[in-house]
Amino acid sequence: MAEIAIIGGTGLSELDALEITHREVVATPYGEPSGPVTHGRLFGTEVVFMARHGHGHTIPPHQVNYRANIWALRNVGIRRVLSIAAVGGIRKDMHPGGVAIPDQIIDYTWGRQHTFYEGELRAVTHIDFTQPYCPELRQRLIKAADEAGIDVTRDGTYATTQGPRLESAAEIDKLEKDGADLVGMTGMPEAALARELGISYACCAVIANHAAGRGATDIHADIEAHLKSALDKAREIMGALLRQ
Ligand code: HPA
Repeated sequence: MAEIAIIGGTGLSELDALEITHREVVATPYGEPSGPVTHGRLFGTEVVFMARHGHGHTIPPHQVNYRANIWALRNVGIRRVLSIAAVGGIRKDMHPGGVAIPDQIIDYTWGRQHTFYEGELRAVTHIDFTQPYCPELRQRLIKAADEAGIDVTRDGTYATTQGPRLESAAEIDKLEKDGADLVGMTGMPEAALARELGISYACCAVIANHAAGRGATDIHADIEAHLKSALDKAREIMGALLRQ
């Protein structure tokens, strides 16, 4: 049985190299996940794949049912999740076309179903989120990148904004003052929900563009020019991780 799942974000609604064995529709107490859980083998390892935005990329970041997705993965036995997420680069070394393995998160989202702890509770509900990403899985990812010969940025604070619009330049200035290095729309509540269910979770952030006000070109042109090459790097790192 697979113990690792890959949640694919923008640009990664399917994994070409995945030898699919079957797709499983999982009913959850939290409603419908973004799609069926796809079981298969990737580079010889059993994995599960989930397209965060749905198979045809139709679910915007603020409408992803993060609880259903994480619950469904846990329900099929998943213990580790590798999130692939497109982001904008704020810090100078976060170049479009590059990849970063963030180590911190700031959550600016609102109105999302962000916890499994609600209703009648019997246990302590305050998960420790000091290290929002699993340190061990992060180190494995960094090692995988080294093995694949891919230069990754080995840290970074990921600011999660609500979306679906991109940010204003002033908002990016504020995020930078807050200590953010990267900005994306899907990092939370996904990471916290995984922690609530005891799933080890780390993120391979694919830097698609300069954040608003930071680049010389239009953001969409930036994404068009750089998302694919960043995703190619993420795929190589994923391959090396699974071969470890
Ligand atoms: N901001 C927010 N989310 C994103 C960006 C961005 O610049 N690029 C890719 N996802």
